[in-house]
Amino acid sequence: MNDMASLKGRSLLRLEDLSDEALIGLIDLAAEYKRRKRMGIRGDALRHKSVGLIFEKSSTRTRCAFTVAATDEGGRAEYLDIHDIHFGRKESIADSARVLGRMFDGIAFRGFRQQTVEQLATHSGVPVWNALTDECHPTQILADLLTIRECFGRLKGLKVVYVGDGRNNVANTLMIGCAKAGMHFVNCTPRELAPAPDLCRMASDMAAARGGSVAVSHEPADAVKGANAVYTDVWVSMGEEAKFQERLGLLRPYQVNMGLMQATGNVKAGQVVFLHCLPAFHDGNTEVTREIGPMEVTDDVFEAPFSKVFDEAENRVHTIKAVMVATLGGVEL
Ligand code: CP
Ligand code: NVA
Repeated sequence: MNDMASLKGRSLLRLEDLSDEALIGLIDLAAEYKRRKRMGIRGDALRHKSVGLIFEKSSTRTRCAFTVAATDEGGRAEYLDIHDIHFGRKESIADSARVLGRMFDGIAFRGFRQQTVEQLATHSGVPVWNALTDECHPTQILADLLTIRECFGRLKGLKVVYVGDGRNNVANTLMIGCAKAGMHFVNCTPRELAPAPDLCRMASDMAAARGGSVAVSHEPADAVKGANAVYTDVWVSMGEEAKFQERLGLLRPYQVNMGLMQATGNVKAGQVVFLHCLPAFHDGNTEVTREIGPMEVTDDVFEAPFSKVFDEAENRVHTIKAVMVATLGGVEL
C-alpha cells in the first residue's frame, strides 16, 4: 500500500501523524486539484459525503476552505457553531462524537484543547481533521508548504524563518512541517515565548535526519540572514486576549518590516517571500489596530510583490481538499 492509500480512514490531528511521503503526496494532490480548479474542472471524489465542521473559535479561511473543497468535489459541509450544539455542555464530547460519527463521513474541529480533537477521533469512528487547536494547525502548514514549493519549485534545503510568538499553534506546526520537508527552520522569538524544548528536540532530530535543521533565535536581524521565507503570525492568538499588552511589549522588536526583509539579503535577488497564515494586523483598518496601527507586519511588507499571503490563503482550499479526499478514500485522478 502506498502512503497516500494508507491515509484512507485516518484522521489528521497533528502533522507528525503523516509520513514524509504522505505529506508530500498531499501537497502533490493539492497542486493537482489547484490545476484542475483553474481549468474549471470539478470532480466527484466526495460525492454523497457529508462532513461536519465543529468550530469553537472563529474562522474565515479554514471554515470556507472546508466548505468550498467539499462542494467542489460533490460533497456537502455542515457548519456547527459550538454554541448551537450540545457538544461538551449538555452532552459529553464522547457522546456527541459517537452521534456525529453515525451521521457524518468526516469531522473537522477547531477549538482550544488538542485533547478535544483527539477525543473526537477516538469516539466518532470517522476521520477527524484538526482545523486548529491551541497546540497546532496542521492544515495551515500544508498550504504554506505548497505555497513555498510553488515559489521555489522545491522545499528541501530552503531556509524558513518564523518571527514572532514562537510557541503558538502555527509556529509549532511550521517547525514540524519544515523539519519533515528537510528545510532549515529558525524560530525567532523572545525567550519568554520560546517553543517547548521537547517539541524543538523532536523537530531538530527530524530535520537532521532529512538534511535540514531547526534552531531558536532571539535576534531577528541575524536570524533572517539568507531566509527564503519570512513567516509571522498574530502576537495574540485566539483565547489569549488577556495577554494583549504583555505581548505588545515582548514582540514589538520582532515586527516584520522592510528593514527586516532587507536583512535577509534576498529581496533584490527575488529569493525570499513573506508568508502569514492570516488574519494579519498590518494596518489600522481593524477594530484591534485602529489605535495602535500595524503589529506583527508593516503594510509595505504585507503589500509587497514578495508577499504571497493570498496565494497561501487560496491554497488552504486545495490542501484541505486533498486531505479530505485522501482520508475519505476517493483519490482517483
Ligand atoms: N489561517 C487561518 O486559519 O485563518 P482562519 O482563522 O480565518 O480560518
Ligand atoms: N495563532 C493564530 C492563528 C490563526 C489562524 C490563532 O490561534 O489565533
